[in-house]
Amino acid sequence: MKEWTREERYQRMEDIDSDKLLELKQQTQLSPYRQTYHIQPEMGLLNDPNGLIYFNGKYYISHQWFPLGAVHGLKYWYNYTSKDLVHFQPEGVILSPDTKYDSHGVYSGSAFEYQGHLYYMYTGNHRDHDWQRQATQMIARLKDDGTVEKFPKPVISHQPEGYTSHFRDPKVFSHNDKYYAIIGAQTNDEFGKLLLYQTTDIVNWHYLGEIKTKLNQFGYMWECPDYFELDGHDVIMFCPQGIESEEDKYQNIYQSGYLIGDLNFETLNFDHEAFLELDKGFDFYAPQTFLDENGQRILIGWMGLPDTTYPTDEEGWAHCLTLPRVLNIENGKLKQRPIKNLEKLRYNKETALGYANKFTTKLHPYEGKQYELIIDILENDASEIYFELRTSKNQSTVISYNKQMNTLTLDRTESGLLPGNVEGTTRSTKLDSSLSQLRIYVDTSSIEIFCNDGERVLTSRIFPDNNATGIKTSTESGQVYLQFTKYDLKGDNQ
Ligand code: FRU
Repeated sequence: MKEWTREERYQRMEDIDSDKLLELKQQTQLSPYRQTYHIQPEMGLLNDPNGLIYFNGKYYISHQWFPLGAVHGLKYWYNYTSKDLVHFQPEGVILSPDTKYDSHGVYSGSAFEYQGHLYYMYTGNHRDHDWQRQATQMIARLKDDGTVEKFPKPVISHQPEGYTSHFRDPKVFSHNDKYYAIIGAQTNDEFGKLLLYQTTDIVNWHYLGEIKTKLNQFGYMWECPDYFELDGHDVIMFCPQGIESEEDKYQNIYQSGYLIGDLNFETLNFDHEAFLELDKGFDFYAPQTFLDENGQRILIGWMGLPDTTYPTDEEGWAHCLTLPRVLNIENGKLKQRPIKNLEKLRYNKETALGYANKFTTKLHPYEGKQYELIIDILENDASEIYFELRTSKNQSTVISYNKQMNTLTLDRTESGLLPGNVEGTTRSTKLDSSLSQLRIYVDTSSIEIFCNDGERVLTSRIFPDNNATGIKTSTESGQVYLQFTKYDLKGDNQ
């Protein structure tokens, strides 16, 4: 892969010849790994979802974007609107790095409604002559003509005393009729923290202090925080960097997780349960939540990770967003389920009911590259069940369930091309209850596995060959009685 110089990574899209941009776009379209029902960049690199909101009858979904190639360079926000969160209208760039405060990137941030208008709060990333980072928090207002107007200067001009310039990703929320921003930060001795600000007029933001969690010395930086109330609990999500892996925990380069508890807005004391990961697959980071038109809490994540190479890098593009998930807390546990509107993408239903055992190679005639597969496990005497997807003669993406250990494993050893700088080729998770259902969304180059009605999710990119379309089930020993329901899915890009 081509080496990118700093100058190349910080080129402005506006300075690039339109023929060159068209060429990049056309090259991207030729990729065999283009997704069909996920948000993906028209070229270049997509990362964090940004500015998610339901406003005036429409959803706004933006993402971090470097248009010129599959590297982390000068970041813009690219925006989509949607009526239903499954069909998306591309709207183009909504925030550009065009002020001195965000000259080196319009970094991540959120959307909020204030006095009937949509506003964005985001991090302005600036590098000085010595390439020293300066982070400020900026606000922009969406105007009636669909363009945005930035406030003339940052609303938070520097990090508080005691913290480094790793100070970013403001998530604005309201609580008891007051507006707050929770911001990711790093202490001078390099530990990740979350800081809280408050405002009454969205121009003047007062620093309230650091949120006091029970997690001291838990990584060197906490990115992309979020706070929300859910089913009577306070939830704080964030992405800690610098956590060592432990057994089946924290297997990826950086983590995304949550704390459920009770936040005291006077003392900033957060009394919470253990930090748990949101997703146990290979490719998930920087999620953000928002409320849908029915008041449900929806989460969308970046289906990728920093500091990792992906097979599509060579083709000049990388990454996509995850499917939207509905969050709930039931019996103290977070549940994540795919949004109901995904049913709108279904066509061509097939079902099968039957036993699988050691000798079953193919239970049914199904195959495909873009589908939803629901597997209900009705009786299980098998020591281990193997569900193989995207199979060909020499490729297979394997989901296995070990009954005795009660663990679910995703194995992409033979899935096709693999991302680089990734530890291992399997991800495992111990379930809370024995396996009763898998709801699997497969797109051209991804798999999202929802297990036991929202108990666990494993999200990963996979890069199999075009002819790897088979679906197989077998066991190690013993048999399993299963109900399969498969729907082909048709998205915007088909
Ligand atoms: C997370 C992140 C954010 C930052 C953005 C820059 O992936 O590093 O902390 O705002 O990406 O693209």
